[in-house]
Parts: sequence; C-alpha cells; structure tokens
Amino acid sequence: MKAASAAFFLCAARAERLTLHTLKRRNQEIGLGLLWMRKAFGVPWVWGWASGFERLPFQVPMRKGGSMDEHIAANRLNWDDRAELHATDPTGSYCIARVLEGGSSLHALELSEIGDVSGKDIAHLQCHIGLDTISLKRLGARSVAGLDFSPKAIAAARDFATRAGVDVRFVEAPVYDAVEALNADYDMVFVTWGAINWLDDITRWARVVAALLRPGGRLYLLEGHPTMLQFDMMADTLTLQLDWRTPQAQPLAWDDAQTYTGDPRSLTNVRTYEWLHPLSSIVNALVGAGLSIDFLNEHDVIVWKAFSFLRETGRNKFELPAGMPRIPMSFSIGATRRG
Ligand SMILES: C[S@@+](CC[C@H](N)C(=O)[O-])C[C@H]1O[C@@H](n2cnc3c(N)ncnc32)[C@H](O)[C@@H]1O
Repeated sequence: MKAASAAFFLCAARAERLTLHTLKRRNQEIGLGLLWMRKAFGVPWVWGWASGFERLPFQVPMRKGGSMDEHIAANRLNWDDRAELHATDPTGSYCIARVLEGGSSLHALELSEIGDVSGKDIAHLQCHIGLDTISLKRLGARSVAGLDFSPKAIAAARDFATRAGVDVRFVEAPVYDAVEALNADYDMVFVTWGAINWLDDITRWARVVAALLRPGGRLYLLEGHPTMLQFDMMADTLTLQLDWRTPQAQPLAWDDAQTYTGDPRSLTNVRTYEWLHPLSSIVNALVGAGLSIDFLNEHDVIVWKAFSFLRETGRNKFELPAGMPRIPMSFSIGATRRG
C-alpha cells in the first residue's frame, strides 16, 4: 500500500510538471481544459495525466509507440505545411526577394567556411525551398542538385529556380534514398541549419553522405549545436530541458502550431519527431563511413532566434546577451572522403 501511494505520488508530481510545462507552451487551451476538468470533477492527477497524455501536445520524449514510418510521415506532412508558409514568407527570414533579384540566402558563417565551390558538383541534402541551392549555383558551382522529401518544398524550389533563372536540379526523396534518387556522384555534399535533427539514424546518414561523394569530395555540415538544443526554447533564460542524446526508438515529440520564422499563420499538421545527436556520434559516424575530419568548429552564433532573449547582431545572426554564460550555439564540420 505504501509502495502504491508512493507510485501514485510520483505520477502526480510528474503530471503536474508536464501540465505546467504544457501551459507554458502554445497549446494553452488544452492544458487549461485539463486543469478545469480536474477541478470540476475532482479527478486525480494521475488520471488527468494518463488520459491526457495521448492527446495532449507535451513537448517531451514519446513514451511509446510510433513506427519510424509514422515519424517520417508526420514530419513530411509538417514540412509540407511549413514549405507553403515559408514559400510565401512575410517575415523576410528566407530572403526570397533577395534571391529572386540575383542575391544569396547564404550566411556569412557558411560563406567563410565552405571554401571554393567554383566548378564543383554539389548535392544539397534537405534543401527545403531551394534558396541555398540556387545561391550555391550562383557562387560558381558547375551543378547543384537539391534533395528534399517534401513535395511542397520541391515544388516551391523549382518555382523559385525558374523565376530566378538559375539552372539547378531538384529531386523529391527521403535523405536515406538520396544515392538512388540523385544517381550521381559529387565533389561536395552541403547540409545546413536544421537537417540532421530530423533523422533517427546518424550512421545511416553518414553512409549516404560518403556514397554520394567522389574520393576526395567534401562534406560541409553546419547545424544548431546539440548542447544548445538541450535547452528549453520557450523559457526566458537558459533552462536545461532535454537529454543530450535521443534514443532512436524514442524521438522527441513536439506539437507547434506555428513555424519558427515568426509567421503568425497556423500549421495544420503540428506534430513532429526529432532526434538530438551528440557531436561524438556525428563525428564517429562520418569517420566510420570513410571520411576524414578536416575541421570541427563551434560557434557563438545561430541564424534563427532559438531563444526569445537572444540578441540579433546582424542579418539572421543571433547571440546570447552579455552576462549570460556562453554555450555553443552552432557547429560546423568539414570532412573529406578518403581514398
Ligand atoms: C530546416 S529545413 C533545412 C533548411 C535547409 N538547409 C535550407 O537550405 O533552407 C529542414 C528540411 O529537411 C527536410 N527533411 C526532413 N526530414 C527529411 C528526410 N527524412 N528526408 C529528406 N528531407 C527531409 C524538410 O522537408 C525540410 O525541408
């Protein structure tokens, strides 16, 4: 009986934490509904949590269920929604006008690190609406192929390329199928800003990268730092929220009604699944797949407003405010395919 009470108490405490957590987030009506139900009917915490958990959008790791296909299907629906919003972005985050007028969407950070791409054949994995793909071609690449699993993103990318008058290829496929879908080899694989967190298996991804590269070909990877991604994006100061590695079978499940650009329009398919990959997993996966690491850099800056308290110190350049302990905000890896 004591054990049962203790277990009940633990569940209740956990439920309280999750409910408060939910209330702090965007889906407030559902969280409030749960509180009201508890108050009105005197429902025990544990019941409120257990019945609510399946329906409520807690932004915590999934407890159970969901095959990998389901995760990918949910992510694809969400990215279709986002692609439609981003292709008509009213916030300026995506620099659409700049690219259509002949400019570039690439940031100073990647431009300072990618090296000379002139005359190179480049595969741009998870290219989204293709603006960086177009920008890479304008840097003098011989060919650029963008790949993404979202049909809406690929349609928008093709439309932008036509309107920009830039000759690039776009292919709709999941990244794990990139070798067969692109059916070519490359001097460079380019992967940036919010790509590998959508993938459950970083070793499989690294093997795809290696298979796309010619011997001597290079990967350029630039991503949000896994340490930064552990902190609560909705908190008003740095607050640790997530484990540093996400088990493959237990992705982080999120429900966000809006996209990250600040666009007030709502998404229809709100559920996404993500994985945090530690730096060691990424580096070891690349080395194991046959690449040598040329550099691993960690940066103070990030290109989106990951936390409300970040200061914008340049175009799409965000940093922690003075006085706050520094954490790495992003990282980049340059790697070359051996032999
Ligand atoms: C944040 S965007 C990446 C931004 C991109 N680097 C750019 O140039 O704008 C993430 C992209 O990954 C794509 N994606 C997510 N999971 C994928 C998968 N398993 N296979 C292929 N594309 C995927 C999404 O459709 C989305 O376009």
